[in-house]
Amino acid sequence: MLHKILRPTLALTFVLSLFLSIVPLEVRVLAATPEPVRGRHAMVASQHELASKIGIEILKKGGNAVDAAIAVGIALAVVYPEAGNLGGGGFMLIRSKDGSTKAIDYREMAPKAASRDVFVDSKGELIKGEGGSTVGYRASGVPGTLAGFDLAFKKYGSGKIKWRDLVEPARVIAQNGYVLSDRLVRLFISYKETLSKYPESNRIFLRNGNYFKEGDVLRQPELAETLSRISVQGAKEFYTGKTAQLIAADMKANNGLITLDDLKGYVAKERTPLKGSYRGYEIITMPPPSSGGIVMLQVLNMLEGYDVKGMGLNSSAKFHVLAEAMRRSFADRAEYMGDPDFSDVPVNKLIDKRYAEIRRNSIQPDRASSSQDIRFGKLDGSEGMETTHYTVVDKDGNVVTNTYTINDLYGSRVTIKGTGVLMNDEMDDFAARPGRPNLFGLVQGERNKVEGGKRPLSSMTPTIVLRKDGSLWFALGARGGPRIISAVMQTVINVIDHDMNIQQAIDAPRIHQQWLPDEILFEPYSMSPDTLNVMRSFGHKFAERPGYIASATGIMIDKDGVRLGAIDSRSDGVAIGY
Ligand code: DON
Repeated sequence: MLHKILRPTLALTFVLSLFLSIVPLEVRVLAATPEPVRGRHAMVASQHELASKIGIEILKKGGNAVDAAIAVGIALAVVYPEAGNLGGGGFMLIRSKDGSTKAIDYREMAPKAASRDVFVDSKGELIKGEGGSTVGYRASGVPGTLAGFDLAFKKYGSGKIKWRDLVEPARVIAQNGYVLSDRLVRLFISYKETLSKYPESNRIFLRNGNYFKEGDVLRQPELAETLSRISVQGAKEFYTGKTAQLIAADMKANNGLITLDDLKGYVAKERTPLKGSYRGYEIITMPPPSSGGIVMLQVLNMLEGYDVKGMGLNSSAKFHVLAEAMRRSFADRAEYMGDPDFSDVPVNKLIDKRYAEIRRNSIQPDRASSSQDIRFGKLDGSEGMETTHYTVVDKDGNVVTNTYTINDLYGSRVTIKGTGVLMNDEMDDFAARPGRPNLFGLVQGERNKVEGGKRPLSSMTPTIVLRKDGSLWFALGARGGPRIISAVMQTVINVIDHDMNIQQAIDAPRIHQQWLPDEILFEPYSMSPDTLNVMRSFGHKFAERPGYIASATGIMIDKDGVRLGAIDSRSDGVAIGY
């Protein structure tokens, strides 16, 4: 009950603190976590109740986890506009009941006209505001969401559910509207400065300054029209039909980069899922263009050399080795990672346990290293050289774990005229200026420079963990930029080393260290003064103020096969099972 009362406040606080590192005074500590939601047959855990309900209905009608995941994704574009999207992209990781795994990469692609210095002005400085990589028309990559869903549907859907049945529930909500929560109303207003610069966003989300109040109904008739075309003509309508023409025309009229050719040229790709292990448990996760899987596996490989369980959950000893391992892996991220279609990413070397041992040997037991001194590691030889996550498990044990995003909350803030489609600002995930921090403070290198047709490096980390007998144990993912990786890896550690259930593991306090800036971000009330003192005496530096670190959702299968759904107490969402 306490949990239910605190969740809305925590949720908004979390969302704001994610970007502003502000922790308003009303935040209170959660001393305990609720029980996970139970379902004997199937479970959907997403960040909006209406979307989770739609997913469950699809499963009850005989759809599989892939069908349900697509319906949830399309619904979130309507009911969760800060991150749910048609105008963004993401990653879908699938494990079928037969044990086969697939990774669908529907990350945005840079428009052809984009190049290395497209966001740098004549003085060599990064362009701020309109024209830059974070807001406005030029900030968007070519959206991949519908192409990804289309690929997943055609190859891995059950074949029992029609495409239009996946789109129709979202269309109806867009048409008839849904009741706005206090949280969403406040979130719209807190983004009013930039949303109001773009007339369609100003009209739809801010009612031209006559702001929505809690309980008002948000109707999105243009989005309903767009969904209606997509429902009848299929996902290709977005890339070649009227929607594509409207996007290209609005881009052209506003100095944007995306053309009709860019939209026609978008391709979702299947990648080979990344596989590793932690203390003998198999971990399946996302390969590049996400950095998430590699960075997580690197940290876990380094931690295998320590008795993490013996160190204890919130001990300085554990936080120390965790932060040091993260520092090293994020340094490698900056140097080695980018779109594998454009540069060689030495994936196997990076996740090799022997390489982890070398990196681990440079960690001192009671001294923090300085990020100045920790550079990317030397790899031997050459090698064939605002986001939302949801998880679905169906009655047969198929699992889909999907993270997709428009990057910042409300993406580029641009809603394309006549479509209701809010666009991403994913161009900022490139190194808009190599060596300079992006929106998330990440410093990145040449491998992730802007190039036409390229996918920006991501931190999204949809992940599946198996029991030692090879059966599905749990699946999860998170939102929160680079902090996603920290959230997912610490949830995995909490389950495996600290014997937690999925809800406890997600809710437990966590830290984040991303090499640069050289500081540890920690959560409100997560560290006692003693722990902080010990860490400081080792030489660790801490962020000025605490802030929440990402927000995860996941599903665990217990020994009896019951599905346990969990939504992060830091954020909103509902898990529904049956
Ligand atoms: O792909 C990435 O790593 C980022 N675009 C994710 C952004 C994000 O998680 C924002 N979260 N609320």
